[in-house]
Amino acid sequence: MNHTLETILNHRSIRKFTEDKLTNEQIHTLIKAAQQASTSSNVMAYTIIGVTDPILKNELRKVSGQTYVEHNGHLFVFCGDLHRISQLAKPEELVEMEETIESTEQFIVTTIDAALSAQNLAIAAESMGLGICYLGSLRNDIYRVSELLGLPEYVIPLFGMAVGTPAHKPELKPRLPFEAVYHENKYKTDESQQTSISFYDAQLQEYYQTRSSNTKTDKWSGQMIRKYRNPIRMDVSSFVKEQKLNKR
Ligand SMILES: Cc1cc2nc3c(=O)[nH]c(=O)nc-3n(C[C@H](O)[C@H](O)[C@H](O)COP(=O)(O)O)c2cc1C
Repeated sequence: MNHTLETILNHRSIRKFTEDKLTNEQIHTLIKAAQQASTSSNVMAYTIIGVTDPILKNELRKVSGQTYVEHNGHLFVFCGDLHRISQLAKPEELVEMEETIESTEQFIVTTIDAALSAQNLAIAAESMGLGICYLGSLRNDIYRVSELLGLPEYVIPLFGMAVGTPAHKPELKPRLPFEAVYHENKYKTDESQQTSISFYDAQLQEYYQTRSSNTKTDKWSGQMIRKYRNPIRMDVSSFVKEQKLNKR
């Protein structure tokens, strides 16, 4: 197996880091890797904010409720960004561009672009022996995060990523079977899907019961039903629209 595949297949989220800070050189390498991701029509509809100010990190930790937002080697926040594009235009041109910038299509473009750059950064970090954890928890209060980071219109904070030297090594979390996520030619809705899920429920249950920390008894299907029965972050919708994205 080549090194790239080894790195990818060894991924696990890291939630405890040593005190070591990333060097400027490491940060530059990671951002270069993030930037080299494919990007829709070369729009590059994202901005990555590195948060180094301890007070700001503390405030973001309060939003997320997760200690590793504050204690890590470096904190990145990935934003969907069409502000940069809007700034290219003269006022009369911007009026004509608004319909496109504010469309659902362009909202999707920003989220895909940001996610691709993030995953490139994640793999680059892991290939350098660092660990990462994505942080959707920053959307617990998306208005506050936007205010803390001073985001202008057409910019939305999507998620953070804590990066640093791992201070633990959790077991790999199993994934759904191949057949569940890969369908050939047409979407499969037959009973094989239920078989895959039952198989995975048993596998994940075993993982939760035998892992070295935070053991519990739980199944994937039960977790997902609970998750989707309890709406959270319902203010994200109004926030995105107030930032003038996903409006049309
Ligand atoms: C967009 C996104 C947001 C996430 N947000 C959080 C988070 O806020 N806190 C956290 O501890 N893990 C977060 N994760 C990590 C997932 O929980 C984790 O990737 C998943 O459970 C699989 O585990 P693994 O990464 O260890 O294989 C997030 C992952 C993604 C992709």
